[in-house]
Amino acid sequence: MVLEKYIRIESNVIYIWWALEDRLVKLLGMRIGRRIFIGIVSSALITSIIDLRDYIHENRLIDLPGFSQGPNVYPEGIYTSQFHKKMLFSKISLDTLSKLLWAMQGITNPVLLFRTAPSAGGLYPVDLYVSNNGLFEGLKEGLYKYDPLSHSLLLVGDTAYPSSDLIMDVDYSRTAAKYGRKAKRYADIEVGHIYHNLFIESLVSRVYPQITSIVDSSDIGLHGDTSILVSFLGLEVSMDRLGKYSVEEILYRRRSRRVYADRDIDRETFETFLDYIYLVHAFMERVLGNGVEVYLNAVEIRGIQGGFYKVAFQGGGWQLRYIGPSVSRELYETCFPVDGFHQSYVLGGKLQLVVVARSGLEDSLTEHLLTGFFSQGIVLVATALGLASVTVGGFDNERLHELLGLKYGYDPKFIIPVGWPR
Ligand SMILES: Cc1cc2nc3c(=O)[nH]c(=O)nc-3n(C[C@H](O)[C@H](O)[C@H](O)COP(=O)(O)O)c2cc1C
Repeated sequence: MVLEKYIRIESNVIYIWWALEDRLVKLLGMRIGRRIFIGIVSSALITSIIDLRDYIHENRLIDLPGFSQGPNVYPEGIYTSQFHKKMLFSKISLDTLSKLLWAMQGITNPVLLFRTAPSAGGLYPVDLYVSNNGLFEGLKEGLYKYDPLSHSLLLVGDTAYPSSDLIMDVDYSRTAAKYGRKAKRYADIEVGHIYHNLFIESLVSRVYPQITSIVDSSDIGLHGDTSILVSFLGLEVSMDRLGKYSVEEILYRRRSRRVYADRDIDRETFETFLDYIYLVHAFMERVLGNGVEVYLNAVEIRGIQGGFYKVAFQGGGWQLRYIGPSVSRELYETCFPVDGFHQSYVLGGKLQLVVVARSGLEDSLTEHLLTGFFSQGIVLVATALGLASVTVGGFDNERLHELLGLKYGYDPKFIIPVGWPR
């Protein structure tokens, strides 16, 4: 069974190699640099598959079970649910663990290898570990690494790390090669995206994923730089409302989309979108705290005056506070060209959101965690409404700070263009 899966994956990788070689190289005009790049990426993939072979032979690869979709509770059911933590009296089944790991980093496109959470440059700097102190049923105690490609656990150590059940191990060097100074910010924000996914899947599974501490990875014998330790508590949840999607389906559907149809956004969709963003914001306040705000640039929204607004969340809803005329061109120019891209799609959105974090500690993990958590909610609720979006982090911070007229201690983190998919 495991071997069958492994062979399937290995042949997929070889297929991807040929498909990439053939299509991309043609598309990119046979440039030697690109060819070498593709060669390196695909050989890294193949090497990782070959590494799996050792785990299989030594019986250290645990095939995670498949799972079925939960109830349709996304988004309203999830974000308005009432819950409180309690002691966890029973073990967590392997089926639940399988779902939680998939929600955090599972593969959603077996050819392009996209995952459930976005990642700057698709570099995926966060590794997941299961530290089984006896909480997970049918799994012997020890430390396991999650392998997204094969959706398996690899037994990497015989002793678990005490007082934690899941570990997100962040390796900044993976993003540093491409993003230099911004590497830490991007990788930390990704932790927030992943934590959001874990949270909403945990609610459905009736467990509470609590971050208990953040430590240097080397202190607990892991390979990355920073480790975020998560422990599960029990949870009583009541969900009075339903939603259109199951959590698994919405995670599966999310994708960064950069091409938008030339069609305005109707007022009803727009207002529902802001209602949902309000719910995400309130949910974040309940589970993590506050520290993130959002600006909105309206370009083509039926019945709404074009312009730049601050979105205020208060009194159980949202309000738009007009700041001035539309700044889409200026927003685009702040991205021009950062990280080597022009990001002209920022201009294509029928609206643009700007997520700003406010904190005393500039560029701290906490503020990035909030940013990622909130922004993941934004892209998921956009997906639930059939809207297309992408979280753009590649802009000149000082220019955007100035454009928004922000005070010291406020830092713009994402521009998110939104429109209908084309
Ligand atoms: C911190 C962060 C920064 C990002 N910055 C950009 C960006 O500047 N421009 C862009 O087009 N996409 C950006 N993305 C989106 C990634 O390119 C995208 O997630 C990745 O290609 C994987 O595709 P997927 O989101 O469809 O799974 C960013 C994502 C994250 C998490």
